[in-house]
Amino acid sequence: MTPKDPHEEMQYGMERIHNAIRVAYEQIIAVARERDEAELKRDLSAWLGYVGAWVELLSHHHDVEEKAIFPRLKEKGCYVESEIEQHRALHRHLDAMEAALAAWKANPATYSSARLVSLFEAADKDLFEHLDDEVNKLLDPVSLRKHLSAQDVKHINDVARKEAGSIGNPTLDLPFLAVHTPSGEHKNFLGLPLPVRYILLPVWYWQRSQIWKYAPYGLF
Ligand SMILES: [Fe+2]
Ligand SMILES: [Fe+2]
Repeated sequence: MTPKDPHEEMQYGMERIHNAIRVAYEQIIAVARERDEAELKRDLSAWLGYVGAWVELLSHHHDVEEKAIFPRLKEKGCYVESEIEQHRALHRHLDAMEAALAAWKANPATYSSARLVSLFEAADKDLFEHLDDEVNKLLDPVSLRKHLSAQDVKHINDVARKEAGSIGNPTLDLPFLAVHTPSGEHKNFLGLPLPVRYILLPVWYWQRSQIWKYAPYGLF
């Protein structure tokens, strides 16, 4: 259940997004390991679309944090430098993944599931350390309360939500988060307004339904 306390809500919201990123990361490795490579090659555009959605979502998530959240936390005296450094380390992996995806799209015969798994596994430590630190250290409600009032937190959440719409790509990011969130946790999903949740989200899902078939959960 979404906490009522704004400081706890901020941590909870970040944790939901990070859980979806983790679930998708495990799913990509599992599909690449378990499915027949020839079968994936026959559906390469959808499969690489799914893998590319993870790379894109994570880049958008970092951009929103760096532009809308971290500067405001820093202004209030929170220490954000180690998270920024972790983003830098992760981006080196994301660049390598993007280059591989582009090369496979240009020349599908060169696709290799083993290479894909090794690219993802190489990011393992940097990724998980960062996802944990941001939730458990930076956004720990006890330390957040020392620097930010409830009003400050509400303001940051409002700005971040608005910026997520312009910095990110809601048509990709929101279906991505939904299909990597177990249905039991979908209630009040990301605090989306009902028309977005029940009208736009299904339309956006449908636009890329061929890539979401690789995801572990449905839209609701
Ligand atoms: Fe984050
Ligand atoms: Fe982050």
